[in-house]
Amino acid sequence: MDWGMKNRMSKIIKSDGKTVMLAVDHGYFMGPTTGLENIKRTVAPLLEYADTLMLTRGALRNYIEGDVDIPIVLRVSGGTSILNKNLLHEGITTSVEEAIRLNASGIAFSILVGADFERDTLLAFSQIVDEAERYGIPTLAVTAVGKGLERDARYLSLATRIGAELGARFVKTYYCEDDFERVVETSPVPVVIAGGKKVDELAALKIAYKAVSAGAAGVDMGRNIFQSDSPVGMMMAVKSIVHGGKNPEEAYEIYNSHR
Ligand code: R5P
Repeated sequence: MDWGMKNRMSKIIKSDGKTVMLAVDHGYFMGPTTGLENIKRTVAPLLEYADTLMLTRGALRNYIEGDVDIPIVLRVSGGTSILNKNLLHEGITTSVEEAIRLNASGIAFSILVGADFERDTLLAFSQIVDEAERYGIPTLAVTAVGKGLERDARYLSLATRIGAELGARFVKTYYCEDDFERVVETSPVPVVIAGGKKVDELAALKIAYKAVSAGAAGVDMGRNIFQSDSPVGMMMAVKSIVHGGKNPEEAYEIYNSHR
């Protein structure tokens, strides 16, 4: 791995091989979703507990101060909204040049394996990987899951492996109960999990714990943090699992004590 790539990856995935990524990029297809009406207000108290902030260029420029000391993973795909039947039929929305201008440590692009339009997302993904690699910028493949697709180990390992084979330096996928170890073991690059829709706090912490115990490099979590009644408590609780080796019940106590 070239020095620039290695250095950027080390900013995202810490020396213990783990990361807590705070995802607030949802507005690129969901608009002002609950908890992100004002990203500045939501994110400011959370930054000190996150290893990485994942968001769009518009959110970064308009809501985040220029002097923050946190690595940015820039969302560079999009093109459809929640109103569209073909949600997640995404292409490149932000260039690598723009990512460099914004001093991003990495970029994130959604692929949708199994959709009728999978080819479009996979080719656009490969194109941006080519450009990002030229400048030593790691690409995160976000394995989106569309309607009618099962979030099981068979599907998630397929999508994760395809992302890695096409050049992702790390992959975001979902936790699954059937055989998440297989998803991690068959990926040649680190795997992080999305939190998914808001569930109760203990359930979200259990998902993070099981994913990390099965070998995930951490989480790229959004709604289960910023839609919690205590986003700071949840950030601290998730961090205690990912970096601190706490179990879900111990982490829940941390969350509870910050409500
Ligand atoms: C999804 O399209 C976005 O990339 C989100 O950042 C990602 O799904 C993680 O957020 P959440 O934990 O809310 O699922």
